[in-house]
Amino acid sequence: MIQARNLTKTFGPKVAVDGISFTLEKGEVLGFLGPNGAGKSTTMRMVTGYLPPTSGEILISNLNLATRPVAARRLIGYLPENAPSYSDMTVEGFLRFAANMRGLSGESAKRALGRAVELCFLQPVLHQGIETLSKGYRHRICFAQSIIHDPDILILDEPTDGLDPNQKHEVRSLIKSMGRTKAILFSTHILEEVEAACTRAVVIDRGRIVANGTPEDLKARSPEAGAITISTSKPMDSALAGLAGVRKTSQLENGRLRIYPVEKLSSAELVAGLLAAAQKAGVDVYDIRIEEGRLDDVFRSLTISDTKEVRP
Ligand SMILES: Nc1ncnc2c1ncn2[C@@H]1O[C@H](COP(=O)(O)OP(=O)(O)O)[C@@H](O)[C@H]1O
Ligand SMILES: [Mg+2]
Repeated sequence: MIQARNLTKTFGPKVAVDGISFTLEKGEVLGFLGPNGAGKSTTMRMVTGYLPPTSGEILISNLNLATRPVAARRLIGYLPENAPSYSDMTVEGFLRFAANMRGLSGESAKRALGRAVELCFLQPVLHQGIETLSKGYRHRICFAQSIIHDPDILILDEPTDGLDPNQKHEVRSLIKSMGRTKAILFSTHILEEVEAACTRAVVIDRGRIVANGTPEDLKARSPEAGAITISTSKPMDSALAGLAGVRKTSQLENGRLRIYPVEKLSSAELVAGLLAAAQKAGVDVYDIRIEEGRLDDVFRSLTISDTKEVRP
């Protein structure tokens, strides 16, 4: 649905986006993850046709955005950062206006409105003035506006920003369910959001993509991934003494021990070795688990800007 090739955007001397390429397929929810100022919004504004790239090419469902902007943009729903709300209108009035702007009228506008209202849970406030509503509702109104024409592609810039935890949860569920039939690109700096809603994530730092993979792929790059955490009746020292395959250990709180296997050994093999060694040493094992890695460790190691230069 989207092919972005080598996108670059400069503002004077500032390189905001520096050669970003990615694709987005139907059925995918792609997360743009990155610290503030990384270039997420600028990339999204280029992909939605609001900002021309300095260089690079964007295809929307094989339509070149530069030469077929109207047809291409019809396929896209866009929730911008700090989405504007038209506070002097009622919810219904605003959404009807949005439907009209998308070329819908009469019965089809009515159907579109009904669908968006239902998806975004706006029924209770339909006839209320937008200025009288809470931030959460206003946000959902902007969301409803972005999906009013039932676009195949949805581009959402920090769609859960400023929402309370329940609302965040609702919006994530909505993204996830819509992602089954659409292609969705959304940006966030909240890591749990990526795990909760994305099929794939792209990590952006200083205008460049520094990682691209499923949340599981990314987590596996964590230094903790594959380490074993064990909780035992007695210290493991004697049991570990004769055990091969241990690269290093670190003591955690509550007497738990984290054990890192040597490169060549699988975590499962080390678990088997540990259990056998513990039994031999007369140590009871209360709990043993293989760490899957933490997204925030990976995020930090990829995006710490000032002190470390990390490029793939
Ligand atoms: N219109 C603009 N003029 C000048 N600089 C801009 C403009 N828009 C964005 N930038 C700069 O480009 C960089 C990327 O911004 P942005 O895409 O908004 O990042 P993000 O959405 O990841 O927080 C930032 O350094 C920002 O200050
Ligand atoms: Mg932004």
